[in-house]
Amino acid sequence: MPGDSLNVGLVGYQFMGKAHSNAWLQAPHFFDLPRQPVMHTLCGRSLEPLKATAKRWGWKNYTQDYREMLKNPEIDLIDVSVPNNAHPEIVIAAAEAKKAVACEKPLARTYEEAKAMHAAVKKAKVNNYVWFNYRRVPAVAYARQLVEQERIGKIFHVRGLYLQDWIKDANIPLVWRLSKEVAGSGSHGDLCAHTIDMLRYISGDEFTEVCGIFETFIKQRPIGRMVEGLTTNAQEIKGPREMGKVEVDDAVWFLCKLKGGGVGTFEATRFATGYHNANSIEINGEKGSLRFDFSNFSYLEFFDDTLPASEKGWRRISCTTGNHPYAGKYWPADHPIGYAETFVNTAADIVAHVADSKASAGDFHANFDDGLACQAVLEAVTVSAKEKRWVNLKEIK
Ligand SMILES: NC(=O)c1ccc[n+]([C@@H]2O[C@H](COP(=O)([O-])OP(=O)(O)OC[C@H]3O[C@@H](n4cnc5c(N)ncnc54)[C@H](O)[C@@H]3O)[C@@H](O)[C@H]2O)c1
Repeated sequence: MPGDSLNVGLVGYQFMGKAHSNAWLQAPHFFDLPRQPVMHTLCGRSLEPLKATAKRWGWKNYTQDYREMLKNPEIDLIDVSVPNNAHPEIVIAAAEAKKAVACEKPLARTYEEAKAMHAAVKKAKVNNYVWFNYRRVPAVAYARQLVEQERIGKIFHVRGLYLQDWIKDANIPLVWRLSKEVAGSGSHGDLCAHTIDMLRYISGDEFTEVCGIFETFIKQRPIGRMVEGLTTNAQEIKGPREMGKVEVDDAVWFLCKLKGGGVGTFEATRFATGYHNANSIEINGEKGSLRFDFSNFSYLEFFDDTLPASEKGWRRISCTTGNHPYAGKYWPADHPIGYAETFVNTAADIVAHVADSKASAGDFHANFDDGLACQAVLEAVTVSAKEKRWVNLKEIK
C-alpha cells in the first residue's frame, strides 16, 4: 500500500457506517497522520439512501456491489460495518483481493466463521483490524496503563456489565439484531463482545473456562426492520402483524475463570429498564481496584491499596488531560470527548499502523487474533448455556 493517502472503501452506511464515516473524516483533523485517509467509496444496497449518505459525508464514489471496490486497485482498505452474517464473505473476499480489512465486532456469528476469516487474513498477510472501539476510550486505555505499571497487582475479581433496555417492549419488531440467522446471537454477541474484549485489553489476561445462562423473555415478535441506531420501525407496524420466533438471547450471564487465577462475572441484557447503554467493568486486584462506567465516560475510578491507611479511598480521575491516552489530541482538560471519538481514535491508530506497513496487523490491537479470541469466549458461553455445564476454552479452539 504505497503512497501518501489511504483509500478507504466502506460497506454499510447506517449506525456504524455513520460512526466510521465520521472517524475517517475527523481523524486527520485531530491527529498528525503519516498518510491521509481518503473516503474513496461507500457501498450499500439501496441506491437512494446510499447516494444521499455518500454526499452528506463526502464519500467520493458509491457502489451497490462491494466486489467493485475489491477490483479497484486504488482502494487500500475495506471497512466492514454491516450485520454479522455479511462479515465473513466480505472479509474473506477482501483478504483474497489483498486489501487491508477493518471489521466491526463481533467478528462473526460463530467461532467457525471467525476462524475462516482469521485464516484468510493470515494467509493473504493483509493488515487486519477489529473496531473494538471501547479500547480507545481514554479512561479505558488509562486503566490498561495502570495494570501495565503493576498498580493493580494480581487480579482476583472482574465484573463486566452491559445493560440496555431498547427491546423490552414486545412491539419492538424482530429486527436483524434479534435474528439468529443474521446476528448469530442476541445481547451476547452484541454486548458481551465488548466487555470480554475490554477485560482482555485492560488486564492482558485470558479466559480459560466459562459457565453461562441465556434468557429470552419475549418469544414472538412482529417482523420488522432497523431504522437508525437502535430505533426500529415499530411505530409503522399497524393492524395484523406477521410474527416471528425469537431465537436469540435477550439477556446473558456468565461466570469465568482467568489464566492469571482470577474469577469473574459478566452480564449483558437489552431488558435492564432505565439503562440505555450502560457498559461498565470493574477489576479488583491485590494492590488496587479499577472501575469504568461508560455513563461517566471521562472518568476512571481507582482505589490504590498501597497508600497509607489514612489516605486510602476511591479516586475519580478525569481522563481528559494531555497525560491521558488520546485526550490531549482534542481539547483542554475537562473539555471531554465522547462516543464518536472512540472511533476517530481507532481510525487514527489504523492509519498510523498501515503507514508503518506491518503485515497482518503486527502490534495493532484489536486485530483478528483479538477478534478470534473474543469469539472463542462467546462460543464457549453459548455451548455452556446450551449444555448447562462449565466449558473450557480448549474445547472451542
Ligand atoms: N463498535 C460498536 O460499538 C458497534 C455498535 C453497533 C453495531 N456494531 C456492529 O456493526 C455492524 C453493523 O451494525 P449497525 O448498527 O451499523 O447496523 P445497521 O442496521 O445500522 O446498518 C447496517 C448496514 O448494513 C447494510 N447491509 C446489511 N446487509 C448488507 C449486505 N449483505 N451487504 C451490504 N450491505 C448490507 C444495511 O443496508 C445498513 O446500511 C454489526 O456487526 C454490529 O455488531 C458495533
